[in-house]
Amino acid sequence: MKKMNIAIDGPASAGKSTIAKKVAEQLGYIYLDTGAMYRTLTYAALSNEVDLQDEEALHTLLKGIRITFLTAGNEMQRVFLNDEDVTDSIRSEEVTQNVSLVSSFAKVREEMVARQKSIARSGGVVMDGRDIGTVVLPDAEVKIFMTATAEERALRRYKENIAKGMTTSLEELTEDMKRRDHLDSTRSVSPLKKAEDAIVLDSTHLEIDEVVKQILGIIEVRL
Ligand code: C5P
Repeated sequence: MKKMNIAIDGPASAGKSTIAKKVAEQLGYIYLDTGAMYRTLTYAALSNEVDLQDEEALHTLLKGIRITFLTAGNEMQRVFLNDEDVTDSIRSEEVTQNVSLVSSFAKVREEMVARQKSIARSGGVVMDGRDIGTVVLPDAEVKIFMTATAEERALRRYKENIAKGMTTSLEELTEDMKRRDHLDSTRSVSPLKKAEDAIVLDSTHLEIDEVVKQILGIIEVRL
């Protein structure tokens, strides 16, 4: 059977990664979390005290690092910066606060997009991010644009944080969500934008499994 590429875009915490991962599992496809790639570069820059405003320095840093993913059975996908497991470190508040800046630079995006395209070359990839349907995989057979209100997305992040023992208030998270949405949608290079041929799914009032079912239904008719 033909292996398709599936692009899932949308704002922070719309549920993209959980859903993309489940869709990939069901289809036996590779799941690629492109946000994790930008987060890993941000983490590397912070660890190496690279100036986060310096596009050239960020680009040089990125050219010198390997970002890889490891999925074992049902376990959570692990993310590696060279040989270092950075799965947890890239979710820190410091990385979250700075990732939109790092990912706003054209040279950074060019290199990331090249890596992402190369992973999807043979098909069979579910990729989630901000510019997948518009820039990385404009020919993807299925494009989904996932949304949910900022309040609902902040609430989801709040519940996740509580489970991890983090204590940021719901108000702060809502503000952060809106700030990141604004930066991601207004940057000049590849802003967060719905591809013209993407199907919009609003997950505000839907359970994860319901969204997964809808996406699998959309994919099935195209197989
Ligand atoms: O998906 P996640 O929230 O982990 O992404 C972190 C950040 O990485 C986003 O807020 C955005 O600034 C950036 N990003 C991007 N393009 C992508 C994926 C993520 O600019 N394709």
